[in-house]
Amino acid sequence: MSEQQKREYTEAELAEMSRDEKVRLGTELDDVELVEYRDRWPVKNTRAERRAERTVALWFVLAGLSALAFLAVFIFWPWGYADPLSKPDEYFVYSLYTPLVGFFLGLSVLSVGIAVVLYGKKFLPHEVAVQQRHDGHGSEEVDRQTTAALLADAGNRSGIARRSMIKRTAGFGAGALGLGAGVVAIGGFVRNPWANEGPNSLQHTPWLSENGEKIYLRRSTGHPHEVSLVRPEDIDAGGFETVYPFRESERHDEHALAKAFKRGDAPVMLIRLRPGSKPIKRKGQEDFNYGDFYAYSKICTHVGCPTSLFEQQTGRLLCPCHQSQFDVVNTYAKPVFGPATRSLPQLPITVDEEGYFVAKHDFIEPVGPAYWERKA
Ligand code: FES
Repeated sequence: MSEQQKREYTEAELAEMSRDEKVRLGTELDDVELVEYRDRWPVKNTRAERRAERTVALWFVLAGLSALAFLAVFIFWPWGYADPLSKPDEYFVYSLYTPLVGFFLGLSVLSVGIAVVLYGKKFLPHEVAVQQRHDGHGSEEVDRQTTAALLADAGNRSGIARRSMIKRTAGFGAGALGLGAGVVAIGGFVRNPWANEGPNSLQHTPWLSENGEKIYLRRSTGHPHEVSLVRPEDIDAGGFETVYPFRESERHDEHALAKAFKRGDAPVMLIRLRPGSKPIKRKGQEDFNYGDFYAYSKICTHVGCPTSLFEQQTGRLLCPCHQSQFDVVNTYAKPVFGPATRSLPQLPITVDEEGYFVAKHDFIEPVGPAYWERKA
């Protein structure tokens, strides 16, 4: 249909047209030839139609139930840290949390998708259309109204108005899913990761001494049950060592000895700067070092990779994941390159009367990725 013919339709004329007429006009205006356009169910309320309706409703119900299950798991499933060796049952329960959250949310989204596709296939009018391609420019009023008529007509012919089962279950499925999506967004308010106390909480690391027991710095020898403590003379100037916490009371406890290497927030880089290095110390942490020895969390503050390289020449700790660099020689392990935005937390250390390194106390700030800083 030409532009000239399109302009012949005034708003008054359009207002007088029935929806059927607008549907026909719409297809003509778009140069669409409807080869076939028929209702899926010309005879209403047949058993087959009711069966199709039940199938769609079933998927919406499944979507709603999955979304509710997701919500229940998200809010009520127990979670925390449990040592897999000494508390395998607790560990198993905790380890199910993430898979269950993912499974139920995924099932809900998938079920809504399947229900919508099935509804389109089983109830929207069956049409075979051939359309000429147009160059794009803004739609005119007549185009807008005829397109709206086409959409409304398709919805009407699908019988949505009288399919209360589908309407109700769609409301249930999509509503519960929407609620689930909302809870994901505000999940931080539902669960308080800072609510727990103790060495297994997010507020503390295994460097916390609960009863005044010394926490030694222990190196990894490759054998979890072999205890090798660190003394200042063990590390050359410019050298470093990765160390883990050790308590004398755990010397004969195989589980505890192995666990020290498994906690993500435990590893620390013990660095011996070259003599004469005078790093700027962080306010309030001026006595965290022991002479030229500085201990920093090994967990990158970007997204938690181990910062496993210490470059003697530049005095920088390097994270291999996204190339963040932390300047140990000139500052207190401040990030000077890469995506990390927060200094590596420093562990306060000293040497005991027997000459072994010990931690003075736990870290005083969160270890690992910067988002833990959200504790306000
Ligand atoms: S995890 Fe270290 S730079 Fe990304």
